[in-house]
Amino acid sequence: MSDNKVHAVFDGIEEEDNHLPNWWLATLFLAMVFAFGYWFLYHSTVWLDTPAREYAKEAEAQKKRLALQNPMSDESLAALANDPRAVEEGKKTFTTICVACHKADGSGSVGPNLTDRYWLHGNKPTDLYGAVMTGFQDKGMPPWGPQLGEKRTREVVAFVLSIRNSEVPGGKAPQGDLKE
Ligand code: HEC
Repeated sequence: MSDNKVHAVFDGIEEEDNHLPNWWLATLFLAMVFAFGYWFLYHSTVWLDTPAREYAKEAEAQKKRLALQNPMSDESLAALANDPRAVEEGKKTFTTICVACHKADGSGSVGPNLTDRYWLHGNKPTDLYGAVMTGFQDKGMPPWGPQLGEKRTREVVAFVLSIRNSEVPGGKAPQGDLKE
């Protein structure tokens, strides 16, 4: 390159090789620094939630909300049984109330074994919900719905679903029909 600023001439048009203005370079470099910082914070670190992580969190929270809000169905109760927090809450209710007749591990005493495959009133999630909600007063199972309310009833059912078919050893002898 010559000392001359003119870099090339074509058709009488002179092309110069000037330095880029400093203000222009400054915006370029600032943009690069910003982009790097942004990428570092939002896409590659654990300090801030990346959009993907935020999305996953929100989807998870939404699933839990729906599991509780959903109209009562086998699906919504089964979904709740996969939510460790709901199962844990249900376990608390179980070990304070249901323990009296079904034992803490659900293997049965006055009330039937809830961990075997035999059921008096069906083994579908909605069957269990109905059993807990309205009970079988004449058979010694009180209705728990009025005391527990909707949410805690669903959670205790989620817990029972989590122990269903686990066949705790030494449990009460089967009552009712074999259900798969
Ligand atoms: C006072 C004793 C008692 C308590 C407390 C009790 N149950 Fe029961 N439960 C029974 C009896 C007795 C039966 C069997 C009813 C029958 O023979 O039809 C039963 C039946 C059931 C069934 C149906 C089982 C089947 O084979 O179909 C479920 C589910 C159940 N109980 C869940 C619960 C839960 C959950 C709680 C706590 C919120 C609870 N029970 C508290 C006595 C009790």
